[in-house]
Amino acid sequence: MTIRVAVLGAGNRGAEHSRYIRRFGGLITAVAEPDEGRRQRLAAAHDVPPQACFTDWRDLLEHPGLADAVLITTQDADHADPCVRAAELGLHILCEKPMAPTEPDALRMVEAVERAGVVFAVLHPLRYMPLTDTVKGLVRAGRIGEIVSVQHLEPVGAWHFAHSFVRGNWRREDESSSLLMAKCCHDLDWLSYLVESRPERLSSFGRLTHFRPENQPAGAADRCLDCSVESDCPFSAVRIYRSCLGNPDLENWPLGVVTPERTGESLTRALATGPYGRCVYRCDNDVVDHQVVAIDFANGVTATHTVTAFTDMEHRHTRIFGTRGCIETDGRQVTVHDFRAHPGTAVERIDCTGDPVRDRGLVRHGDGARAAVHAFLTAVATGDASPIRSGPRESLDSHRAVWAAERARLTHTTVAMPPDPPTTPQRPTPVGG
Ligand SMILES: NC(=O)c1ccc[n+]([C@@H]2O[C@H](COP(=O)([O-])OP(=O)(O)OC[C@H]3O[C@@H](n4cnc5c(N)ncnc54)[C@H](O)[C@@H]3O)[C@@H](O)[C@H]2O)c1
Repeated sequence: MTIRVAVLGAGNRGAEHSRYIRRFGGLITAVAEPDEGRRQRLAAAHDVPPQACFTDWRDLLEHPGLADAVLITTQDADHADPCVRAAELGLHILCEKPMAPTEPDALRMVEAVERAGVVFAVLHPLRYMPLTDTVKGLVRAGRIGEIVSVQHLEPVGAWHFAHSFVRGNWRREDESSSLLMAKCCHDLDWLSYLVESRPERLSSFGRLTHFRPENQPAGAADRCLDCSVESDCPFSAVRIYRSCLGNPDLENWPLGVVTPERTGESLTRALATGPYGRCVYRCDNDVVDHQVVAIDFANGVTATHTVTAFTDMEHRHTRIFGTRGCIETDGRQVTVHDFRAHPGTAVERIDCTGDPVRDRGLVRHGDGARAAVHAFLTAVATGDASPIRSGPRESLDSHRAVWAAERARLTHTTVAMPPDPPTTPQRPTPVGG
């Protein structure tokens, strides 16, 4: 069965996931996107006819017969309304994270999909990564005994942080969401999946320390193109984006976010006038640039999570401490230590990078996203939701943990997770329907 998918939001993620959908045998049959260039590019790439192209998701959903499912890749605050409407129309839903910036909106989404009985998945790629399967397999096989605690690091990377969280789309809470929601709903979700329990109490600390006007160096200008100290600045937009030219991956992202044409002239224009040419100390950003969360899980496991701007851009690093051994992973390699071995001896190293040519990027975030898209299409085609690891309730749980951690940070308290919201009964199918 070929699944027909309508794309709501043909930006960076919409274009990327559409390619995966096609790779796994799905068809992109409609697109809604206000930006004409993006809309036309996606339509051309997938042969979407003009009558199935719309400038707004609301107009597209006036024609529900165009698709079996929707891919929601609009910005953070614009996931809930299209999700609820698509569910009411009986369309299956693959939704980018975060579900929504607020808890009432996320709850509205869960209620709508439960009531309609449609397939729903949130794109939490970490749950689907091959490396996750390796680590969980080791834990389930008892290789480190019982998990007691976990230490987890999300090293966002200095230039990536400047791009997305100082100059870019996720720099302000009122326009998107907190850093913890935007970047780390995946991490809190993954920790729950790993330890197979739910957070019971959380505390958190974090602030915006560095990317503030008072830290602008003497002699700096408001735009990197005009700046006399640009060459010495770790966050120079000129250096970051010019170095992307000529590299197809980097031209796609991050350069594709900065300028639609991948040329030096177009980039210079964007740096002179657009948001990505601004001095990182003169932006209107307010999200924190470092944060820690401590979690007490219902099964007694404790975990810490750190997210910080001040790193090279790397895979996540995790150490899982068990009663008989521990597992460490840098996102590429998994190392298993057995306490029965001689002190300091690592008993096994598992390389999860695969063949660098054949399986290029096997353990990247994107591979989890590919696997999530595949799971969604399989669930829709078979009517069996079991391949989906990030359904409505799992995703709501992890989003609620993020909101609880943010409450803890803002109120300087330890926050207990409130009771679960009740599940919504599925609407009975009308007789003859
Ligand atoms: N899962 C992940 O790891 C991950 C990574 C990056 C981004 N995201 C999330 O994916 C989502 C999209 O991110 P992106 O980087 O593609 O952003 P983007 O800004 O490139 O794309 C969003 C698109 O939605 C379009 N849009 C706005 N209003 C619309 C409307 N009414 N109808 C239809 N389209 C409309 C915009 O014009 C834009 O092209 C965000 O919620 C983001 O947080 C998830």
